Amino acid sequence: MCGIIGYTGVKGAQEIMLDALEILEYRGYDSAGIAVCGEDSCVRIRKCAGRVKDLRLLCEKDGILGTCGIGHTRWATHGGVSDANAHPHRFGKVTVTHNGIVENYRDLVQRYRLEERLQSQTDSEVAAAVLDHFYSGDPLAAIRKTVLKLKGTFALSIMFEDIPGTIFAVRNVSPIVIARAQGGSMLASDVTVLGQYSKEYFVLPEFYVAVLKAGGVELYDMAGETAEPEWLTVNWDVDRSGKGGYPFYMEKEIMEQPQVIRETVLPRIQGGIPDLSGDGIPDSLLADCTRICVVACGTAMHAGLVGKALMQSLVRIHMDVELASEFMYTDVIVDEETLVIAISQSGETIDTLEAVKHAKKNGAKTLAIVNVRGASVARASDYVIYTNAGPEIAVASTKAYTTQLAVLYLLTGRMAYVRGSFGEEEAKAFAGELMRVPEVMQKVLDRREEIHYIARSILNAQDVFMMGRGLDHAILLEGSLKLKEISYIHSEAYASGELKHGTIALITEDTPVVAVVTQDKVKSKEFSNIKEVQSRGAGVILFIKETFGLEKDAVWDSVFMLPAMEDGFMVMPASAALQLLAYYVSLDKGLDVDKPRNLAKVVTVE
Ligand code: M6R
Repeated sequence: MCGIIGYTGVKGAQEIMLDALEILEYRGYDSAGIAVCGEDSCVRIRKCAGRVKDLRLLCEKDGILGTCGIGHTRWATHGGVSDANAHPHRFGKVTVTHNGIVENYRDLVQRYRLEERLQSQTDSEVAAAVLDHFYSGDPLAAIRKTVLKLKGTFALSIMFEDIPGTIFAVRNVSPIVIARAQGGSMLASDVTVLGQYSKEYFVLPEFYVAVLKAGGVELYDMAGETAEPEWLTVNWDVDRSGKGGYPFYMEKEIMEQPQVIRETVLPRIQGGIPDLSGDGIPDSLLADCTRICVVACGTAMHAGLVGKALMQSLVRIHMDVELASEFMYTDVIVDEETLVIAISQSGETIDTLEAVKHAKKNGAKTLAIVNVRGASVARASDYVIYTNAGPEIAVASTKAYTTQLAVLYLLTGRMAYVRGSFGEEEAKAFAGELMRVPEVMQKVLDRREEIHYIARSILNAQDVFMMGRGLDHAILLEGSLKLKEISYIHSEAYASGELKHGTIALITEDTPVVAVVTQDKVKSKEFSNIKEVQSRGAGVILFIKETFGLEKDAVWDSVFMLPAMEDGFMVMPASAALQLLAYYVSLDKGLDVDKPRNLAKVVTVE
C-alpha cells in the first residue's frame, strides 16, 4: 500500500508528481503530499489528508517551483488520517516518503530519544529521524547504517537538504522501480505509473541504494560498490492505462476482457494443444508433482478455487487452495513433490510473497501466475507465467481475474495432456473451447444494459445472498466479493446445499438472492435449493446457462441467460455478468467505483 514517486530532471517536479500520484492513487488514497527542492535549494513540503485532487488544489494556491521532488499517496497503517501523518516527513536535514511498515519503530523512538521531537504518529517519520541521526555528510553511509536498524518492510525515497537535485532510494520487500524519463530520472512504487513515461525500467534490488540525478541513475550495493541495473521492458501498451472514454477504469477493464484473454491464450496454443514451453515451463514440472497448492489472496485466491475444481476433475490431482496470509501459520504440508502456484495480479502482495519464500524453504517447486512483469512474486518463484492483462487500475480486480483463470485453464489442459488424462483429441477440444471464451464473453458484455437493469433491483438491499454448487459456488465467491467491495452491500456466497445448515435463518423477503446455474450435474439440486429460499420469501435473480431452459411454473425476480459453453468454461461468461452486476450497483449508488473506501490495490502490509 502507499504509492511513492520521485523525479529529478529538467522539468517542473510538482506537475509531474501530481499527475503520477493521481495514477498511483489506487495504492492508497487517504492523504497525499510532495516535497520539492526549490530553486533556492530549500526543500518545501505540501501535504494534506484527502485525495490527490485536494493536494493539487493546495499546490495551485501555494505551489513549489523546482525540478527535484518526492511524493506520496497514503494508505494509513501507523497513525490516523491527518495532515501531520501524511508524507513526506522531514526530520533535520532528511525528507522521506515511505511505503511499508517499520515494525521496531517504538524501540527506535526510545533508543534515539525521539519522543518529544516527532511531529506525527507514523513509523515513517522515525525512519527519517534515524537517517538524520546517522547523516553527517555521507548519504550512503547514513542509509547503510539506518537500514541495519530497521526491522520490517520499507521502500524509502530520501532527499538530503544539502544535496539538492538528488534522490536516494532503498528498499526491503516493498517495491521501487526506476526509469530514465521526462528529461531526468524517476522512481515509483510500480511500473503502472512509470510505464506512462518510459518503456525501460529496472526493479531496485533489495538492500541496494539507487542515486537518482538529472543526468542518470547510479546503483550501489551495501558495501558501497557500484552495480549494474537489470533493465526490463514494459509489457503493455501505454494506451491501455487511460480510461478510454469510460467513466471508470473498472468498466474499461471489464470490457477489455475478450481482448486480453485472447492475448493470454492464443500464443500458448501450439498445434491446437495448450503449450507453456514459451514461458519456460518444462512438462516435467507438471508431470512429476504429486500435489498442487495454490497460495493467493482475495480475487486471486478465488481464481485458485476455480483452478482446483478444474484440476481435480480433469487431471485427478490433489490440489489445495490456501489463503497466503494463513499459509505460514497453519502448518500446511508442502514438500519436494508439491507444486506451489502463487497467483497475484500485482506480484507484490506481501502475504503471497512470504508464502512463496516459505514454500521454497520447504523444498517445493514454485510457479507464479502474475500480471506485472518483474514483480517480486515473479522474481521469487522458480517459474512464472505472465497473464498479459495489461495495467489494472481499478481496485476491484476483473480482467486480472479472468486472465488468471485463462492461465489456469492452460495449465489444466497441458497438465492433463502430459499426465495422460487427455489424449491429443481431448486436449485439442479443450483448447478449442478455451479459444472460444473471448467471443462468448463478448456476448455478455454486449448485453450489459440488461444487467444494468437487473442491478437496480438490489440497489437498496442491506444484504444479498448468492448461491450455487461446485463451480457455480466458486464463481459466486468472486461475484460476492466484487459486490461487497465496491457497493458496500453485505453479501455472502454460499454453497447452496449448506444454506439450510444455518444461514437460511437470515433469508427474508428483504434479502435478494443471486443464483448461478451453469453446471448440468448439479442443476436439479440447485433448483431445489433455490425453491427453499423462495419459500422463505426471497426474490431470486437467476443467471443460468441459456441451453438449460426454465421450468414453466417458476417465478423469478430477474433472469439473465448466459451464452452457452461447455460447463467447465461457464465460469468465464458468468464472471463477466457478475462483475457487471457489482459495477452497475456501485455506479448507480453514485460511489467511487475505482477507489472503494478503506481499500488499496496493492497490499504490501501483512
Ligand atoms: O495483487 P494481488 O492479485 O496479489 O491482490 C490480491 C488481492 O488483494 C486482490 O485480488 C483483491 O482481493 C482485489 N482487489 C479484489 O477485487
